[in-house]
Amino acid sequence: MVYIFDHPLIQHKLTLMRDVNTGTKEFRELLEEISMLMVYEVTRDLPTEEVEVETPICVTKSRVLAGKKIGIVPILRAGLGMVDGVANLIPAAKIGHIGLYRDPETHEPVEYYCKLPADSENRELIVLDPMLATGGSASAAISFIKQRGCKSIRLVNLIAAPEGIERVQKDHPDVNIYVAACDEKLNEHAYIVPGLGDAGDRLYGTK
Ligand code: PRP
Ligand code: URA
Repeated sequence: MVYIFDHPLIQHKLTLMRDVNTGTKEFRELLEEISMLMVYEVTRDLPTEEVEVETPICVTKSRVLAGKKIGIVPILRAGLGMVDGVANLIPAAKIGHIGLYRDPETHEPVEYYCKLPADSENRELIVLDPMLATGGSASAAISFIKQRGCKSIRLVNLIAAPEGIERVQKDHPDVNIYVAACDEKLNEHAYIVPGLGDAGDRLYGTK
């Protein structure tokens, strides 16, 4: 399943992020804010269970999260910009990291780091990356995670290209994809059009 979030706050903030005149500080703040808004919806179907709680007035029954614990897995670098927004809402989540970069010539992902929580096979994992372009990075990251025995995986992207969605759906039909926007296409350098440019560079001011 692919979920596209058309909430006005998300769309407004995304437009600001797309703007070439938006600087690094604001870009970083907006990515954190949108990530927080998105994870609210991404976790809508998490199971809950009833517990007893004593209020200052009486004892009552109320609901808490149940089921698998959560893990957050940003794809380095740009996925790091989404971690704080998600962790603010799910502070008990453990955080793993997968380092991938796209080879500038082949556009294929190259792995340089992978460190996941020791019990990640028992967790519901939320993979974060602002950009889903060819889908090569996300698909490779999900494959690494599956190799560690993890079965429950959700992918959260800010902007996707149709090609990226198709690739992840083909390689990992069991993974739900959550995006703020699905853009038109990829250009000849495999950048998303209209997109927002290079998310990592805009986040960290490296270009
Ligand atoms: C960007 C982005 C994704 C990837 C998407 O990372 O953050 O990880 O490209 O492209 P794909 O869907 O075609 O694989 P990049 O490789 O530029 O690395 P960075 O985050 O370190 O800048
Ligand atoms: N990576 C980015 O950061 N932006 C794109 O448009 C495509 C890949």
